[in-house]
Amino acid sequence: MNKTGKNKTTVKNRLPLNEGSRKFEEQINQYYLLQEFIDNIPDYIYIKDKKNRFIMINRAMADFLGSKPENIIGKTDFDFFPDDRSKEYSSDEKQAMKEHRPIIDKVDKLTYKGKEHWISASKIPWYDREGNVLGTMGISRDITTRKRSTDSRLKESEEFSQSILENSPSPIYVMNIDKSMRYVNPAFEKLTGFTAKEIIGTKPPRPYWIKGMENIYTPNLEIALSKGVNNLELPFANKKGKKFWVEVSLKPLRGDDGKIKYMLGIFTDITERKNTYHELEKTLDNIINTLSSIVETRDPYTSGHQKRVTLLSVEIAKELKLDDEKIKFIKIAAQLHDIGKINIPPSILSKPASLSDVEFNIIKSHPQTGFNIIKNINFRFPVENVILQHHEREDGSGYPAGLKGREISLEAKIIGVADVVEAMCSHRPYRPSLGIKAALNEIKTNKGKLYDPDVVDACLKVFKSGKFSFPEVNLRDFL
Ligand SMILES: [Fe+2]
Repeated sequence: MNKTGKNKTTVKNRLPLNEGSRKFEEQINQYYLLQEFIDNIPDYIYIKDKKNRFIMINRAMADFLGSKPENIIGKTDFDFFPDDRSKEYSSDEKQAMKEHRPIIDKVDKLTYKGKEHWISASKIPWYDREGNVLGTMGISRDITTRKRSTDSRLKESEEFSQSILENSPSPIYVMNIDKSMRYVNPAFEKLTGFTAKEIIGTKPPRPYWIKGMENIYTPNLEIALSKGVNNLELPFANKKGKKFWVEVSLKPLRGDDGKIKYMLGIFTDITERKNTYHELEKTLDNIINTLSSIVETRDPYTSGHQKRVTLLSVEIAKELKLDDEKIKFIKIAAQLHDIGKINIPPSILSKPASLSDVEFNIIKSHPQTGFNIIKNINFRFPVENVILQHHEREDGSGYPAGLKGREISLEAKIIGVADVVEAMCSHRPYRPSLGIKAALNEIKTNKGKLYDPDVVDACLKVFKSGKFSFPEVNLRDFL
């Protein structure tokens, strides 16, 4: 009150009161009221003319500048602040006046009289009654304390996050939106063998990418950037060139505005699991090959039959655009489709003449025998059902169950067609090879009747492409 009162007296004494009119008195009172009001506001308030000269300031502003208001009026920022700051303030005010647009809450650092201040400033153009720009009005707030407290909290939070990342046993990285690497933790350095210095800042291809696999990594990276990825299994190579497998999870990190700022990636090392899995697959492969060859050693004339049927079945499956898992399934089933023949006497299997009805009925038991042998092995796929159905035909004329059309699985239909084509192309004890032309004629003629039309078309395409032919298989391969 005493400050305001003092100011009021000073201004009053300087004002021309000689007219003494009531209206003028009222205006003067309003002016004092306004001055009193702004002098009581702790923010820095000022009004400048078009040439950025102060024409009014409040007490807080005068105190900040360390002078009396009457000594500041008529001066500019250049009389108080460093040149670079003053130039920017002046430029902001000119812009606000030119564009008739206020500048709100612009936060800047100001060093004044050796002290650092963080100032949040708003500048608004002001006008006369006709709408002409007269200058700018400004209100600024010293937010140094708040900023320091926020910075300190932020620093504390950053240090906390950093400590978690640095001590995490999981390899973690942060990628910028332009795909350059921003951060990797020590666990990531350990897994890849590359130092943070060697990785940070790099754009794809990464140093740990396996050469020649860019066509796998790049599309996955694009998908990850658009929607993130979860537990994607990928192989990489460490600095010494040793392959390792990881499950990659990549999630977007968003800023306050909701926009993606970074991508956070986590690797889970699954090398051991993968190696074990591969070892098991290899073992399984060996078992399947052994089982497959046991039955063929009992019938030298059909040696390699299952192997050749497998090769053709896989090609038909690929032509039908089946996925990798389905193809794996078909491969196993084709390798074992005649396993049930193990129960048939070699004298019948290798008989160099037509079979009697009894003998043929014995032969016809092999799908069921194969089913019984395989049904207790857990292959991840119902291999036994395909073995059981590989002699079923579209019109129900097949065996053992006389299934029709959709009752027969696609896998069994594929192996069925490959089986017929391979058998007709091979020599038998009772006849020479009938040749590929006759084999393809057989499936073409009975397309839709005995054989699935799509499977027949796919098989014809495989041979038409010229890229497939049955390899000669040496009997010794199966002994
Ligand atoms: Fe068969």
